[in-house]
Amino acid sequence: MPSLHTMGQQQDRRSWAEPYKIKAVEPLYMTSRDHRERAIADAGYNTFLLHSRDVYIDLLTDSGTNAMSDRQWSGMMLGDEAYAGSENFYHLEQTVKECYGYEYLVPTHQGRGAENLLSSTLIKPGHHVPGNMYFTTTRFHQERNGATFHDIIVDEAHDTSSLFEFKGNVDLDKLQRLIDEVGADAIPYVCVAATVNMAGGQPISMANIKAVRELTARYGIPIYLDATRAVENALFIQEREEGYADKSIAEILKEFCSHTDGATMSGKKDPIVNIGGWLSTNDREVFEEARNLVVVYEGLHTYGGMAGRDMEAMAIGIRESLDDDYMKSRVGQVRYLGMLLEQWGVPFVKPVGGHGIFLDARAFYPHLAQDQFPSQTLAWQLYLDSGVRAMERGIVSAGRDPVTGEHRRPKLELTRLTIPRRVYTQAHMDVVAEAVKECYEERESVKGLKMVYEPKYLRFFQARFEPLA
Ligand code: F0G
Repeated sequence: MPSLHTMGQQQDRRSWAEPYKIKAVEPLYMTSRDHRERAIADAGYNTFLLHSRDVYIDLLTDSGTNAMSDRQWSGMMLGDEAYAGSENFYHLEQTVKECYGYEYLVPTHQGRGAENLLSSTLIKPGHHVPGNMYFTTTRFHQERNGATFHDIIVDEAHDTSSLFEFKGNVDLDKLQRLIDEVGADAIPYVCVAATVNMAGGQPISMANIKAVRELTARYGIPIYLDATRAVENALFIQEREEGYADKSIAEILKEFCSHTDGATMSGKKDPIVNIGGWLSTNDREVFEEARNLVVVYEGLHTYGGMAGRDMEAMAIGIRESLDDDYMKSRVGQVRYLGMLLEQWGVPFVKPVGGHGIFLDARAFYPHLAQDQFPSQTLAWQLYLDSGVRAMERGIVSAGRDPVTGEHRRPKLELTRLTIPRRVYTQAHMDVVAEAVKECYEERESVKGLKMVYEPKYLRFFQARFEPLA
């Protein structure tokens, strides 16, 4: 039998392993089923409300949960904690310029800080913002500033069984139709994410971003990239797109960004740190306005809510994220988990994306209506079975339409197993896969949930549920 790691590659290839070894470890705690039953009930059946002490393997998110390298930790000692003009800011600014190619940088405490700055700088009430699927915080800031969000992702993205290789692509016809309908003046920018989180970590191709650029340039509409996982996106381009097999991930990233005008970044993902973010742009006016606003919401324009040491760790982490072997092992680990689940016939989004496995909760629980929260139910069941923590990415995350007040009903009801970077081993992936298999085998007896507390904003973080009788 071929090594599990050779999935999708030549069968006679030898296994690879992570290009690093472990220097410090953190203990994990195992719990009994009784304990977990109490813990999840106390948490209102919402995995966001669990204490991490009660979690065994934490796949809630890949955000800020990364393991830093010894180089990054030593960079922390070089923190220049001056209120103004920290050395580490200039290092980060230079690194972003060299690796992503953008001219100006405004640091923020994390991704949503950058989204706030960008949305408040560019959006006026009545505007329309097209994007390749929504992300929760990104769309929230767009709507809060008075814009209407339009999903212009290709239809394949909404189909969990489609094997299309670039499910993150923008549908150019949808974009053209929107421009014809509302007029270019009402579109302050196109928001392009790479990879697309809510679609399952799916990539967008170089050809597609080029085509989006050609189209929008005719109307003078800028493109802002959600670059949160753009390095992961570059790996998919290298593997799947003609002409990129011999280019490095660093080269591909820079070329990709060159087709956009700026980016928002959650440093908690690709840059392998625990906190931080930034807004970057090539537009001097946008920069001036954002740099002015950052002092109101985040901190001075040379720290933006980060400590000097955080900026140093991020600058180092960005370089590490561009190492081809690292990125192959990062996404390779996600694929390994996918391959185990595939062998057991468990339904999930394919092809496997960059940062996690997105279980298809509708296919798990066809007997549950969307109002009975199938994805939330699956996250609950997984935790109960094994202490593995997953995240709902379905109707709860989608929230309510700000105009009608109705639930938004996404086609995808997904439960996400998100893999932190450099944190868990292959054995942890085995344990996770076996827990999912167990839940899949028990699926027919499972009843859903009802929501008993619903916060007004980004409800998925703090909503509470009760099991249906
Ligand atoms: N954009 C994308 C694509 C994201 O995945 C996230 C965060 C953000 C922006 C916001 O960044 O958290 O630093 O403010 N995603 C996390 C997740 C929370 O679990 O998917 P942030």
